[in-house]
Amino acid sequence: MAVFRVELKRVVDDTYDIEIGFDLKKHLLNDINDKIFGNINKFVIITDSNVVNLYGKPIYEMLIDAGYKADILVFEAGEKSKTRKVKEELEDAMLEKDYRRDCMVIAVGGGVVTDMAGFVAGTFARGVPFINYATTLLAAADASVGGKTAVDTKRATNLIGLFNQPKKVYIDIDTWNTLDARQISSGMAETIKHACFADSALFEYLEENMDKILSVDKKACEHIANENCKIKYNVVMKDEKESGLREILNLGHTVGRAIETVSNYQLLHGEAVAIGLVFEAYLAKKLGYMNDDEVKRMINLIKSAKLPVSIPDYIDREELVKKLYTDKKVRDGKLRFVIQKGIGDIVQFGENVYAIPITEDVVREVMKEL
Ligand SMILES: NC(=O)c1ccc[n+]([C@@H]2O[C@H](COP(=O)([O-])OP(=O)(O)OC[C@H]3O[C@@H](n4cnc5c(N)ncnc54)[C@H](O)[C@@H]3O)[C@@H](O)[C@H]2O)c1
Repeated sequence: MAVFRVELKRVVDDTYDIEIGFDLKKHLLNDINDKIFGNINKFVIITDSNVVNLYGKPIYEMLIDAGYKADILVFEAGEKSKTRKVKEELEDAMLEKDYRRDCMVIAVGGGVVTDMAGFVAGTFARGVPFINYATTLLAAADASVGGKTAVDTKRATNLIGLFNQPKKVYIDIDTWNTLDARQISSGMAETIKHACFADSALFEYLEENMDKILSVDKKACEHIANENCKIKYNVVMKDEKESGLREILNLGHTVGRAIETVSNYQLLHGEAVAIGLVFEAYLAKKLGYMNDDEVKRMINLIKSAKLPVSIPDYIDREELVKKLYTDKKVRDGKLRFVIQKGIGDIVQFGENVYAIPITEDVVREVMKEL
């Protein structure tokens, strides 16, 4: 018998830039020409059916005009496309078009596209590099930064995926001008979430400037894009793989993700998260970490973003409670929640412990508030 030890210690530098600005296509081309991603000449643009003509094709044509090999792969817009089946179709298309390890994936779109394209890139030919060109407020605030990539299954959202960091993220605020009002509001949920757990000054800024943001005022949007990034990357830098601190990014998502699935995606991600934030504010109040005024301020801010604050009647609450058990924070069959502390802070329960078990009875009781 023989035993061989394969020593593979990993030193990884996944450092990358997030560039925030207006119409960043040229910056993307300059970066490719300057070879900041390496000597790559083949690009697969992954986008969806709404974004393709607006931003996918212009980037594709720009790359072709510059002499690169490029293809554009499009899937039907919407959360329902974030599946293993669509991932497989994209991979098959890449193989058919003879892409191998020497290509790069460019995700052009919102969170569905960046989650999907990052996952495709992470497994295609055992991993090719990718960049995110984020075109929604939600992707800018959250999805495009941090390297979580995944698809949904019938049972749960985002449980099949990879941690896979992009080589660069471009946040093009000009693209928010073509988003409809409902999508802008949906994107605000993640911004409100960041303010709730990390930054009371941002919370106050949102209270004072919501109208400007909803009308895509350049200065206000640039401000929130910058603040969102700072909050998100500071958490991700400390805990990339969600072994503790990163769980705080789940604020509002424990209930939010479950409602999103039970609504059969009638609710947009941000709308579901907004309801989840309200639920978790009531939970924090019950546990003594928030007072009435703070809960009221949260509800008012969420309402001012034109987001829902209660569970719609068509949601089956029993199914919702069951769905909570598919959350990735569940341990030993117990539901776990992160808990907001006042406005702009989060409760730490021990060294690197940011989520605590909450019984189903307490969950049901709190749900009555919504
Ligand atoms: N990976 C993460 O860390 C993370 C974090 C938060 C959310 N997410 C995921 O992000 C997704 C939600 O993101 P989203 O709201 O951006 O979804 P999305 O990608 O579906 O975009 C929303 C809608 O807007 C359209 N669209 C995108 N950009 C547009 C533009 N500039 N102009 C006009 N229409 C445009 C899309 O076609 C789509 O219909 C969910 O799947 C969620 O799970 C991931």
